[in-house]
Amino acid sequence: MSEFETHEYDVLIIGAGGAGLRAAVEASAQGVKTALVCKSLLGKAHTVMAEGGIAAALGNIYEEDNWKVHFRDTMRGGKMLNNWRMAQLHAQEAPDRVYELETWGALFDRTKEGKISQRPFGGHRFDRLAHVGDRTGLEMIRTLQQHAVHKGINVFMETTISKLIKDGDRISGAVGYVRESGDIIVFQAKAVVLATGGIGKAYQITSNSWEYTGDGHSLAYWAGADLIDMEFVQFHPTGMVWPPSVRGILVTEGVRGDGGTLRNSENERFMFNYIPEFFESETADTEEEADRWYEDKVNNRRTPDLLPRDEVARAINAEVKAGRGSPHGGVFLDIATRQPADYIRRRLPSMYHQFKKLADVDITAESMEVGPTCHYVMGGVRVDADTGASTVTGLFAAGECAGGMHGANRLGGNSLSDLLVFGRRAGLSAAQYAQGLSSVPALDEGEVKDVVADMLGHFDRDGSENPYTVQQDLQETMQKLVGIIRQESELKEAIEKITVLKDRAGNTGVEGNRQYNPGWHLAIDLRSLLTVSEATAKAALERKESRGAHTRDDYPKPEEEFEKVNVVIKETPEGEMSVAQEPLPQMPDELQKVFEEAAI
Ligand code: FUM
Repeated sequence: MSEFETHEYDVLIIGAGGAGLRAAVEASAQGVKTALVCKSLLGKAHTVMAEGGIAAALGNIYEEDNWKVHFRDTMRGGKMLNNWRMAQLHAQEAPDRVYELETWGALFDRTKEGKISQRPFGGHRFDRLAHVGDRTGLEMIRTLQQHAVHKGINVFMETTISKLIKDGDRISGAVGYVRESGDIIVFQAKAVVLATGGIGKAYQITSNSWEYTGDGHSLAYWAGADLIDMEFVQFHPTGMVWPPSVRGILVTEGVRGDGGTLRNSENERFMFNYIPEFFESETADTEEEADRWYEDKVNNRRTPDLLPRDEVARAINAEVKAGRGSPHGGVFLDIATRQPADYIRRRLPSMYHQFKKLADVDITAESMEVGPTCHYVMGGVRVDADTGASTVTGLFAAGECAGGMHGANRLGGNSLSDLLVFGRRAGLSAAQYAQGLSSVPALDEGEVKDVVADMLGHFDRDGSENPYTVQQDLQETMQKLVGIIRQESELKEAIEKITVLKDRAGNTGVEGNRQYNPGWHLAIDLRSLLTVSEATAKAALERKESRGAHTRDDYPKPEEEFEKVNVVIKETPEGEMSVAQEPLPQMPDELQKVFEEAAI
């Protein structure tokens, strides 16, 4: 192995967003030798796109809030498909993780009484999101990063892992390359934690940046781990739609949490039209009456603009299709008529600057144009709720690349808390597992060389395919055929197209040399993109119902027979993929009772 730069660690963490950083802090606190690898520069992570806040039942605004209500909201938001144990741990531990972050230096906004301020978000019964203006994810990353660098964790930036290596059935390391130099890098490790985030770059319109190519999902799959819930892809209702160069960039739910309303081209608050009971009740003559009706219905100061993301995204989609959209194919989001300019600039500083600089829109005076953007995947590596252990020994996963926590749909704000709760648990368990091994499992030199040959093979192929064209065609396929609204014929068409794209990806030739060669990087990323796209399309085809973020035109309702988990399995060493349904884990009686307690 001397021909490659090789490092030995107890715990190797792949991905340096909130989950990876929190896992690294915890593993290192256990005294094990820990490394953190990230594809980008440290500090640049999709975590920063959870702008509006971190959900935790601190009870600072509404004293009635507690973990049980948060648990119940999360399960209902996930349409009861969540792994109940993950949802329980998440709701119970989120407050401690927020206070811990504060002791590490995070500066949350305060209430007048000096408590951590909490804002409302869709699907949360009470105002629950601790926030730092609309830059909460950024503050979280800054805090974790500063904390982590003092722990002596080794960080390998701009490094992509291409494959995990196993010694028999257990993980023994990983192989990748340094993006700048193109040099091969090999890690021998007792345990690996995947924390690579999502799959957004499989879609045309996404809030995710270039790194989010489903690497963790794919690394786990190719190592033989199960994936679950891959059909559930969240389209955040509000991404920018104009100008084209910024299409998909997130417009935080915090805009609606702080009073913003959605309107169609007729200036109608169209979200009311998507609440059947509204029509069955006495209809309101004015907007104020309609708002009051809704406030009474949900028994607090919510608006229908803050319904769960899947419902709002579908409503926007329907308005645009019905010809009531904005000039550039979205709808209008207006906060200017409801809130004073200084309030908007104070509470939503990033949104103010984002629209001013990128779209020349002053959101304190004008409406924003917004539309759905692929934001998050609920599906991921199947893990044990308490430890984050995958179905492969020595392999752990946390954060967006782990499945189960959010079921069929994630509530806004629950990702930042998820990253902290399960990042800590995965880091701890990986460290404990590593401490239990007397030596590092062996790296099979032949296998490492095969991985390297595969990576470098792109330079030798004089293939006719350009990796960028293959990615564009994949994104178009996923956007059109595996998007917000799905149906059988289109999903089948998508699967056929993905099969062809896999052949084309195998025929991608790359020019130039290994020093910072983005074409080569993308050629390698295509394997992950195609793996997660296939998993999403196949799982979506199998789920013959509509539930949460998965909407089927041909099966418009939730069906009891599909109260199951879709498990994506690698059947053969070549990667032949199948999908099997499994029953949900049985929720214990004391948690069932949470749904019956009248007080919440
Ligand atoms: O809208 C937002 O600020 C996003 C939050 C989240 O995805 O949790």
